[in-house]
Amino acid sequence: MSLEEEEPSQLDLLKRHKVYSCTVFTAVILMTLAAFSLLIFYLVLSHWGPRFGVISTLTKLNKLNLEKGNLLNVNITLVTNFTNPNKKAAVDFKHIVVELYFGQTIVATKNVEPGLSAAKGGTGSVEVDMLASKVQLFELEIQRLKNEMLKDKILFEVKGRFLAQSKFWRHHLRYSYHMHGQCTLTFKKPPLGVLVSTKCKTKIFKSFF
Ligand SMILES: *[C@@H]1O[C@H](CO)[C@@H](O)[C@H](O)[C@H]1NC(C)=O
Ligand SMILES: *[C@@H]1O[C@H](CO)[C@@H](O)[C@H](O)[C@H]1NC(C)=O
Repeated sequence: MSLEEEEPSQLDLLKRHKVYSCTVFTAVILMTLAAFSLLIFYLVLSHWGPRFGVISTLTKLNKLNLEKGNLLNVNITLVTNFTNPNKKAAVDFKHIVVELYFGQTIVATKNVEPGLSAAKGGTGSVEVDMLASKVQLFELEIQRLKNEMLKDKILFEVKGRFLAQSKFWRHHLRYSYHMHGQCTLTFKKPPLGVLVSTKCKTKIFKSFF
């Protein structure tokens, strides 16, 4: 008779019961931990996560023209600013992508080298040169740009997508999350090219450990 065919003895049943209780206990512990971590996340990060912005005094529209009447050439020095209002955790930025839009048209994209971080309650900033040449705009956008050049008020949109990581409890607990930041920037025409107004918002997009 092989082992598999044997009727389970009382002892086996008792063992199985023990294994089962142990599994349930572990599952409950794990679920409690997960719930606790989520709670921490919502309490600590949702209102205190890093904020995406630009440093107005350093951001400049260096060059802007419409070639052959409809192809856009742009050179913007953009200094993005990541503020960490959280006093409990520093933030490391693992991956940052910055996109420049005029209306619906994506004008330029830049990957920022990792290595940026913001200390507890601190700020990290990085300069990104947004360059574009001969970008085809939609007919309505061309009209809009010509209007804005006349009024000396040129609006661009900047989107920042970044993967951030916060570390708690002397780096024992790490939390990673994707964030999206978006700014509407209003410039004066070059050669002045100063940034006259900025409106930004940031939201947590997706989170995971
Ligand atoms: C960074 O951006 C924040 C807004 O998110 C702003 O209040 C702060 O002054 C900026 N820091 C610098 C150095 O400009
Ligand atoms: C963009 O503008 C900056 C500031 O004027 C200048 O230093 C840089 O060379 C320009 N880049 C290109 C590709 O024209």
